[in-house]
Amino acid sequence: MRGAVAADHYVASVAGKSMLEQGGNAVDAAVAASFTLAVVRPESCGIGGGGFMVIHLPDDPTHGYVHTAINYRETAYVDGDYFERTGKSSTIGGAAVAVPGTVSGLLYALEHYGTLDRATVLAPAMDAAKNGFHPDENYRQASDGLIARFNKNPEMKTKFPLMWNHFLQSGNTPDMVQRGDLITNDSMLRAFELIAEKGREGFTKGELGIAIVNAIQNAGGEMTLGDLEGYEVLEYEPLEREINGHTFYTMPPPSSGGVTMLETLMILEALNYDFDNHAINNGESSHQLIEALKHAFADRSNYLADPEFIDLPIDDLLDISVIEERAQMITSQVHDPKYYGTPNLIPNDHGTSHISVIDPWGGAVACTETVNLEFGSLVGVNDFGFVLNNEMDDFTTQRGKPNAFGLIQSDRNLPSPGKRPLSSMSPTIVVDENGEVFAISGASGGPRIITGTMHSLLNAMAGKSAWESMNAPRFHHQWLPNTLFVEPELMGIMTERSGQGNWNTIQQTNRAGNVQIIIRDPDGKGWQSASDRRKGGQPAGID
Ligand code: DON
Repeated sequence: MRGAVAADHYVASVAGKSMLEQGGNAVDAAVAASFTLAVVRPESCGIGGGGFMVIHLPDDPTHGYVHTAINYRETAYVDGDYFERTGKSSTIGGAAVAVPGTVSGLLYALEHYGTLDRATVLAPAMDAAKNGFHPDENYRQASDGLIARFNKNPEMKTKFPLMWNHFLQSGNTPDMVQRGDLITNDSMLRAFELIAEKGREGFTKGELGIAIVNAIQNAGGEMTLGDLEGYEVLEYEPLEREINGHTFYTMPPPSSGGVTMLETLMILEALNYDFDNHAINNGESSHQLIEALKHAFADRSNYLADPEFIDLPIDDLLDISVIEERAQMITSQVHDPKYYGTPNLIPNDHGTSHISVIDPWGGAVACTETVNLEFGSLVGVNDFGFVLNNEMDDFTTQRGKPNAFGLIQSDRNLPSPGKRPLSSMSPTIVVDENGEVFAISGASGGPRIITGTMHSLLNAMAGKSAWESMNAPRFHHQWLPNTLFVEPELMGIMTERSGQGNWNTIQQTNRAGNVQIIIRDPDGKGWQSASDRRKGGQPAGID
């Protein structure tokens, strides 16, 4: 294949592919795939959410060399005590919604680094909204859980009418939402028409902007039109480190994904990890990997937050002498959680979807977007057919308490007006020693994004195909809770080792992240792509 798009829904992969067929580059393809995901993966991402995009175009016919990371993560408009003071929920309802960034971010990427016009990249999303799509197993599972919740709390049916009447098909009892149902979305089509016609302002101002703010305020939030209009896209240098002869370009904070993954891999390298023979069912290497993850996730929890608001010790955390100290602390034993992480670097005062794209010019885009939990805050912008995120829950909203993903985070990650919550989204591009793109990866799944992305790239560096790199079973450890989460195929071997006293708590999980990966063919001439079977995705490519 000369180019490929791996999204976690086939309709979105095909939307991206059609941009490549029309002569568009990887950015055009990522933007088209992303707008289409808003229709077909409303449980994961969409125009009510936010995201990150890492772009590496070595030799684009229109833009030449492009190397950048775009931050369109949602922002807070409340202070650090807001949730403790008001007792409001950071997962359901209007207060859970942070100012959305996806439309601004995608249009920024398109205007600066794409080549096609808004109407062209929005066309596949508009088609999907108009002609409908059939819910797949992932959609069905997400909606079954919510239908049960709505039936238990019937007042939710009137409070979140777009969710109940449209996305959950009014329960469609007794058989819930069916795979064969056709879900069209003429209301979202209207939102796309406004965006195509007016650009970012079609979303943040006028009838759509007012509808968003009204939906939030009616559901108990306090966001204003000024907050929505004031949203700013930020652009950074990708975070860059060498690992095992490969250069990793990944997302800097407010993503924690890049720092946490790189710290883990650098600790492994300091332990002389055998990257070429990376094997998850090898007791020794699994132990090293889990212990390295615990150090990195402890540092994530203690230090990372939005760099626009807090000084972050990234260079210290990724300094080779600090890494070597952590590596030396890895013994054959497991330790109390307090043992992990890097002490005293600074005083103490102070639903997701991933798309990987490669274009015929070797240009790569890794883009991860989210509304956070499935269908976000459940607050619908009724007349425009989409739900709003609940990204506020990625902040520290209750000091010392875990968020929905069990992550305990520091006061550095408290909300503040304009601040972005710490994220685990880890869009990553890896280039080889000749500077050519070798792999593009990223995932969904909360903190499992970091481990899923890392496992896939460890597999890729060990010479596995794209399918094998995505498919191989995975485990996840995030320091706290002090539990190793293990996919079913690994339960036997991991339980055996745990029985020998190595890991005290093991829990089976069906999905340790959902990865979309593209890898250069070993002959260097084409590309292999894989969308995670765990979420039912499928890639699409051009010959
Ligand atoms: O940014 C984050 O880390 C979370 N909002 C991601 C949530 C997520 O992956 C949910 N999905 N499966």
